[in-house]
Amino acid sequence: MPQASSPIGVFDSGVGGLSVLRALLAAMPHERFVYLADSAHAPYGERGDAYVAARTHAITQYLREQHGIKALVVACNTATAAAIHEVRNSHPTLPSVGLEPAVKPALAVTRTGHVGVIGTRGTLTSAKFGKLMDSLAGKAHFVVQPCDGLAHAIERSVARPEPAPGAPADATETAALCERYIRAMGDFGAAPGQIDTLVLGCTHYIFVAHELRALVGPQVQFIETGEPVARQTRRLLETVNLLAGPDGDHDTQTPRTRLLTTGPVAMLAAAAQRWLGLTAECCESVSVP
Ligand code: DGL
Repeated sequence: MPQASSPIGVFDSGVGGLSVLRALLAAMPHERFVYLADSAHAPYGERGDAYVAARTHAITQYLREQHGIKALVVACNTATAAAIHEVRNSHPTLPSVGLEPAVKPALAVTRTGHVGVIGTRGTLTSAKFGKLMDSLAGKAHFVVQPCDGLAHAIERSVARPEPAPGAPADATETAALCERYIRAMGDFGAAPGQIDTLVLGCTHYIFVAHELRALVGPQVQFIETGEPVARQTRRLLETVNLLAGPDGDHDTQTPRTRLLTTGPVAMLAAAAQRWLGLTAECCESVSVP
């Protein structure tokens, strides 16, 4: 039976969910986390619902059985769209939090009423997203752009050395894909008729925020989900009385954050170092068939 001192499980198709983990770590300083990057099976975005649902099911089982998680954060919009209902049906006692593109918060921010949404094809063509958009019909003009290949390119880019601060954007694969998709969406800016708010509907995309910013200009607001999801997770744990307190009976031998991957450890370690300042000792290779 999970206790307040049990870890929270977090997973994504790869390293993108580290953006959510970063927010979770900041919001809940007394919690322990087990993060699983399913990089051997990434990207999820172009694979179809059945595949993503099967992976989500296998990973949830694995995190419960092997790590005794007390709650699950599906740090992946694509897996949430394909499988959060099944997770909740199959694991009714496991508190779970999913992600969806933050289009509602974007409505509160936009002044021009033109909102861009980028995400994977899986997320943006899902029934769940379709329902969400239907519920907001007439409230804003949404420009929805699936970004095939972008999450996968971000995964691959992690293995490359980080560019020097202030270096001009080069023609990397990620930059080229960002440019192609942003240009396809129309005009960005604060003038009437321009898109002034961009929803990052995939957890990987925050890691190309600087490339996106260079394309859309300084006036466009980016909306992502890390912080609201961390707040929601905290609230949920409070509701079920499983929030770890400062005096929790922590096992001091176990690191606060364990990072697991079904893919190359070096890639996860590079991402964890670059984005969370964590060392390679936190990272392990696992198999989740
Ligand atoms: N990071 C994921 C998301 O938020 C999926 C990326 C992918 O594997 O295609 O949708």
